[in-house]
Amino acid sequence: MRRVGIFPGSFDPPLKCHLNLAETVLNQYALDEIIFAPIVAGRGETKDTTGYADRVCMCIASTVGKQNMRVMSRETPSGLLPTLKWLRKSCADARLFCVMDVGLFSGAMDKLAGKNACRDIVFICPGKIGDDTGMVRQNAAACGLDMEMLPCCSLDEAESDARHTVFSMRDPDSMPAGALKICALKGLYIQNHYQDIKNGMSEHRWQHTLGVRRSAVALAEKYGGSLIKCAVAAFYHDCAKDMNPKDMRKILLDHGADIHDETLQSGAMMHGPAGAILAEERYHVYDREVLDAIRYHTTGREEMTLTDLIIFVADAIEPNRQDYPGLNAIRSLAEIDLYAAALYSLYATRDYVAERGKIFHLAGQKTIAALEERLRNDRRLDPAAAELLREKSSVFH
Ligand SMILES: [Fe+2]
Ligand SMILES: [Fe+2]
Repeated sequence: MRRVGIFPGSFDPPLKCHLNLAETVLNQYALDEIIFAPIVAGRGETKDTTGYADRVCMCIASTVGKQNMRVMSRETPSGLLPTLKWLRKSCADARLFCVMDVGLFSGAMDKLAGKNACRDIVFICPGKIGDDTGMVRQNAAACGLDMEMLPCCSLDEAESDARHTVFSMRDPDSMPAGALKICALKGLYIQNHYQDIKNGMSEHRWQHTLGVRRSAVALAEKYGGSLIKCAVAAFYHDCAKDMNPKDMRKILLDHGADIHDETLQSGAMMHGPAGAILAEERYHVYDREVLDAIRYHTTGREEMTLTDLIIFVADAIEPNRQDYPGLNAIRSLAEIDLYAAALYSLYATRDYVAERGKIFHLAGQKTIAALEERLRNDRRLDPAAAELLREKSSVFH
C-alpha cells in the first residue's frame, strides 16, 4: 500500500527546516511521497499576508529536484478538511499521514474530530515537547485522532525571523535558494512602493526596471551577491530618471550632495545620486550598500562593490534593452567576468559619446582606469574576456 504524507502550512516563506522536516518524515515513516499544501488563508488573513500564489510559487521553487516532494496546485480545495477529503479521494488506496505544526493541529482538532476524512490518518506534529503538548495528545486521543509528536523547533517563529531578515535587506540563511530567488524577484517581505514607482515612470522605464531586477537577481545568484540587496537596488535604481532635471538638481543641492559640477549639467548624470536620495527619504531604504549601488549605477566608481557591479551590469544587459553597439559582448562578458562586463560597458558608452563629439564624464573615466588596473593585474582573467576587451582597448594587448 502506498504511503502518502500531506504537509499543510502557511509556508510564508518556505524554509530549509520545512524541507528537512519533510525529509525526516519521508524516511521515518517510509513514505512514498509528501505533498506540501500551502493553506489559502496564510497568516490569519491580515493585510500583510503574502499572497497564496506567491507562497505556492516559493514552495514549488523550493522542492524542484527533490524526489518524492510535490506541491498542491491551485485547483486543490482550500481549508484543511476539504484538503484531507481531496487527499483521501485522490489517494484512495494509500495510507495517509498529515504533518502539522502542533499549534495548527490543536486549533483544528475540533473540526477534524469524528470526520470520515480523518479516519486512519496519522497526524505527525512537529513542535517543542512540553506540558501543553501532553495536553494536546490527550485531547487528540479524546477526539479519536491518531497523533504523534516529532521534536522540532517552532516553525512559526522561524518563518517570522526569515521575513524580518528580508525586511532588513539581508538574505536569510534559513530559506532554500529557490524560495529566496522568488522572494527577491517579486519583492516579497520588503516595503515595495510598487504603485509609486510604477506611476513615477513611463511604461517603457517600468519594464526596464523589472528587467534590471530579473538580471540583477540572476547575476547575484551566479556571483554570490545578496539577492535581496540587488533586487531592491534594481527596483529603485531609476526612480528619479523620469523627473524634471530642475527637480533633480534641486534635490541634490538641497541635500548638499557632494556632487561634481559636471553631474549637475545633465539628467543622465544626476538621476543616480538623486535616486539614492529619493530611495532613502521617500522609500525608506536605509541599507548603505543598496543606496550606493543606486547612486553609482551610471558612472560606476573606483572601488566598486559586488552589488555596485551587479546593478551596473544588469542595467546594461537587461532583457528588454533594445540592441545597441556592444550589447552582445557585454552579455557574453556578464557570463564570464563582472568586472570585464562593467568595463566593456563603460568603453561602449565612452565610444558612443566620442562619436558625437562630446566629452565622456570624469567619473566614468576614473572607473575605467580603476577597472583596467584591476583586470590587468588579474592573472585569472578569462582568455575569452581578454579577447573581447582587446577590441576596445590597447591596455589588454
Ligand atoms: Fe539609470
Ligand atoms: Fe536603468
